[in-house]
Amino acid sequence: MNLNSLPTWSALTAHYESIRDCHMRDWFASENDPAPTRADRFTINGGGLTLDFSKNRVNEQTIALLIQLARETNVQARRDEMFTGGIVNPTEHRSALHTALRTSDPSAPYAAQVKAGRAKMAVFAERVRNGQWIGYTGKPIQHVVNIGIGGSDLGPKMVVHALHHLKKSDIHIHYVSNIDGIDLQNVLEQINPEHTLAIVVSKTFTTSETMTNAHSLRDWFRRSGCSSDQLAQHFIAVSANLSEVVRFGIEPDNVFEMWEWVGGRYSLWSAVGLSIMIAIGPEKFDQLLEGAYLIDEHFRCAPLERNLPVLLGLLGIWYRNFFGLQSYVIAPYSQALHFLPAYLQQLEMESNGKSVTLDGRFIDYPTSAVVWGEPGTNSQHAFFQMLHQGPTIVPVDFIVSLAPNHSLPGHHEKLLANCFAQSEALMLGRTETEAENIVGRKQTALIPHIVFPGNRPTNTILLNELNPRSLGALIALYEHKTLVQAAIWNINPFDQWGVELGKILSKVIESDLISASSADLRKHDSSTSALIARAREAITR
Ligand code: F6P
Repeated sequence: MNLNSLPTWSALTAHYESIRDCHMRDWFASENDPAPTRADRFTINGGGLTLDFSKNRVNEQTIALLIQLARETNVQARRDEMFTGGIVNPTEHRSALHTALRTSDPSAPYAAQVKAGRAKMAVFAERVRNGQWIGYTGKPIQHVVNIGIGGSDLGPKMVVHALHHLKKSDIHIHYVSNIDGIDLQNVLEQINPEHTLAIVVSKTFTTSETMTNAHSLRDWFRRSGCSSDQLAQHFIAVSANLSEVVRFGIEPDNVFEMWEWVGGRYSLWSAVGLSIMIAIGPEKFDQLLEGAYLIDEHFRCAPLERNLPVLLGLLGIWYRNFFGLQSYVIAPYSQALHFLPAYLQQLEMESNGKSVTLDGRFIDYPTSAVVWGEPGTNSQHAFFQMLHQGPTIVPVDFIVSLAPNHSLPGHHEKLLANCFAQSEALMLGRTETEAENIVGRKQTALIPHIVFPGNRPTNTILLNELNPRSLGALIALYEHKTLVQAAIWNINPFDQWGVELGKILSKVIESDLISASSADLRKHDSSTSALIARAREAITR
């Protein structure tokens, strides 16, 4: 299948030309009561979430054509293949069954394994939570240090921060991911070995950052007087590589299994989420899974026209492939969702940042957009200027909860007002006449500076409140959006070969930094060898 030569692709290209100069403010203004408003026509619900996509550069025909594209590119077949355990990751010969972690259907793939794994997690989490799991001096655990990176860090960290208001207050959860020693050192300054539990999370148990941090943490325990036998009370592993875990010295009983059929960036629902379960308890962890399950069911069963992940994915395709836009912003109007943009960067860009089709042919259309963002309202005072008046169009996903997750009066109304004002301003803009009316004829020089083009596309995703269920649904929404886009682009969203080359070269450079003679450095390009030489000087000084 060549995407560019599909009839719907050509129809969408022609349609883009016909609406590219239309302004959304005119579409909104031309609504006639009592016909359904644009907001009614372009708002859908699913899994407890609401998606208002009315402030997009689309009309009914756009949506119809995009849905046709989804059908022509077999999005439904790709979806069903994933849910039923097909080999959707052919380069690693794996299925991608994160959805099997969220269903309670006993006939689902791997149901017995999932159930047993979850039960083991729950027993362990409760023992830590109620003080029965004790450290080497008989003291209860007060600090949990999750050591992992990428999918073994971003998901759990994002969820634990998002649900901080529901967290057990006397257990502090820390995340260490960066090989930069300051990351671990900062945590070491806050913890005490007698009260600390380390969870080393790594599917492969070979990831350099994670293993370096795990070794340093283990040394720190030893220096504090914890014997090798006593380390069993302080080190837990989550991994698919039992032999490496044992070689590191973690007791097999202290291992929570990760499975090959769950991809790293889709794994927070598995034992990778152990730190989440310790933070919020097994019951609320189940609610997180239930929320994701609601979106799984919605994705599987809702008609494409009313299907949240399908629509979100298609809108992304519309801007990336037809408008040629390069990036989009995630703007959670929620400080608790501070880590959501980083989490979605890995989810979307590691999944869909590919240039070959599933069967290895190079492609000639853009794939993953650059995902970036920060919570509102902070982002308004950082990069929103560019979103409003820069020449580059950057679509925004606003995510906001109708209820607050705190008890301070007056804040939430202001937060909501800011969120809605931004999408309104991005859509409406401000015309020259409106600008003139504001500053008057005397200040004409100012007018161009206070004109806003508007017509800037945004989605608004509403949660009733930020709780485990709605968060689970939100994450699953973006997971499935990623699959929808991968299906249309005909790429594999479940491998990540692009991270390998740098890993290999860093091993060579590490040994050159420590031991190479200047002659050895000639195997590198002149820039890299000069950088290594400079660093060697600094290290040995
Ligand atoms: O960045 C590459 C990657 O393989 C990610 O896909 C993964 O989430 C991360 O490294 C961590 O891998 P592991 O869990 O094996 O340590």
